[in-house]
Amino acid sequence: MTAASDQPEPQDAPWWKKAVLYQVYPRSFADSNADGIGDLQGIIDRLEHLEWLGVDGIWLSPITVSPNADWGYDVADYRAVQPDLGTMETFDDLVARAHERRIRVLLDIVPNHTSERHPWFVRSRSSTTDPMRDWYVWADPKPDGSSPNNWVSSFGGPAWTLDPNTGQYYLHNHLAEQPDLNWWNEGVRAEFDDIFRFWFDRGVAGFRIDVCNIIVKDARLRDNPPATADDDFDAQLFGQRPVFNGNRPEVHDVIRRWRRLAESYDAPRVLVGETPVKIDKLVEYYGDGSDELNLAFNFPFITAPLDAGAMRQVVEDTEAQLPPGAWPAWTGSNHDMSRFASRWAGGDEDKARLALLMLLCLRGTPVLYQGDEIGLCDSPVDKDDLRDPLGVRYWPAYAGRDAMRTPMPWREGPGGGFTEPGTRPWLPLGPTARCNVEQQRSDPGSMLVLARDLIALRRTHPELQTGRYETVSAPDGVWAWRRGDGVAVALNMSDRPVDLDGTAGRVCISTHRAGDGRAFDDRLTLRGWEGVVAEISP
Ligand code: GLC
Ligand code: CA
Repeated sequence: MTAASDQPEPQDAPWWKKAVLYQVYPRSFADSNADGIGDLQGIIDRLEHLEWLGVDGIWLSPITVSPNADWGYDVADYRAVQPDLGTMETFDDLVARAHERRIRVLLDIVPNHTSERHPWFVRSRSSTTDPMRDWYVWADPKPDGSSPNNWVSSFGGPAWTLDPNTGQYYLHNHLAEQPDLNWWNEGVRAEFDDIFRFWFDRGVAGFRIDVCNIIVKDARLRDNPPATADDDFDAQLFGQRPVFNGNRPEVHDVIRRWRRLAESYDAPRVLVGETPVKIDKLVEYYGDGSDELNLAFNFPFITAPLDAGAMRQVVEDTEAQLPPGAWPAWTGSNHDMSRFASRWAGGDEDKARLALLMLLCLRGTPVLYQGDEIGLCDSPVDKDDLRDPLGVRYWPAYAGRDAMRTPMPWREGPGGGFTEPGTRPWLPLGPTARCNVEQQRSDPGSMLVLARDLIALRRTHPELQTGRYETVSAPDGVWAWRRGDGVAVALNMSDRPVDLDGTAGRVCISTHRAGDGRAFDDRLTLRGWEGVVAEISP
């Protein structure tokens, strides 16, 4: 038995530690006006689903003005709503209507870069003496005219583009249409404080912060070191370790500044970071446990295989390395990473159900992605329908991220309840017959009802919300843990049945719903790929 986490949280823990969060990708959630694009009114119209499911907060992928070179992640105005998605009035209404259903609203903020069409960049590139020149990262060519250093973009290719007008290069860690801001500039810092306040003052409960680990770059713009055989896949792919174009120690000053701002509100606001780094670095983004991010996305967990040993290791390492008071976040899917029903479960529903139970029963805040609750799989998109610039650029070697961004299938049939039957959605709907909300909602054995029941169980068993995590020894292929003293979780991540000995109790929920409520005395037998959460006698 491994004691992995620190003391149990008191039940007066802040709301976000007890919460289940849910990511909405607005363009693909629900289209209220039949233009094929999901919108804010569509989210309002579907709040009933989210309340019924029991989620406590939603995070909306960017809703701000964007020319959509990277679908909202290239922002041209941080204080206005993208017209395709609605108006500020509708946004305010969404916050109000969500609050009526006790659902908080978090937004996505993109501080690392703007759109090249943002007025700040238009000014910055206009001349080397413009006061906004220093808001972005500009550097002279090398004597031979080449890029200032060897940095590569995480979307591939050089991270620098020459601006012929002024003869300098600007930095972009993503597309050339996404110039990186210069976070050494105090004006940039002050501006973002103001943007945070703008939305906090409208009742926004927090932010998911886009690539927050890379916003500060090496002040001397030193070359990244070459990758070695020991480096991970990405470093090998890019041929270098991203040591200087991100992940700098000074980023923590900025995050601490944001945390102070978030805590200055009467209902403190929540900071959720996109932190695609290894666990030893991930835990640093929590600062001392109370002064940086509230939640940091755990990419080693997302990218681990659905294997008992591998996943247990990630969770134990995370639990062991987190500073006191810090709180994990567990997620299996998002708009970049492919859906867990495909990536972890390979389309096998038993495995997807087990993964869902895992996410909802670990110590930490689960963040579901729209469609996870019905076990939605990736839905491959034909070449001619691709929208993601990465798919367009790299097809067929890499199809990009469209397959995980296709519209939500609310019901069977043309339009799928996402849009009107005669309307062509911005990305094609996958097949709606096999997996949709309407049909699963009326089926007590469905994955959707399982999701709802697990979320409800968390409320009736506070130990599932805040109890400590402790691994329980189990046969090969099985991962089992205890939450507090009274709850145990066991996942049989193998095809064959297994017996777990030495505990008595009662199954609250099994992924094979026929097994709900069964009592066990010293021996619990699990079917292949069955997961259970049980009350146990201490
Ligand atoms: C984040 C977003 C991703 C986007 C990138 C650049 O990784 O999740 O969708 O392409 O940042 O903003
Ligand atoms: Ca619409």
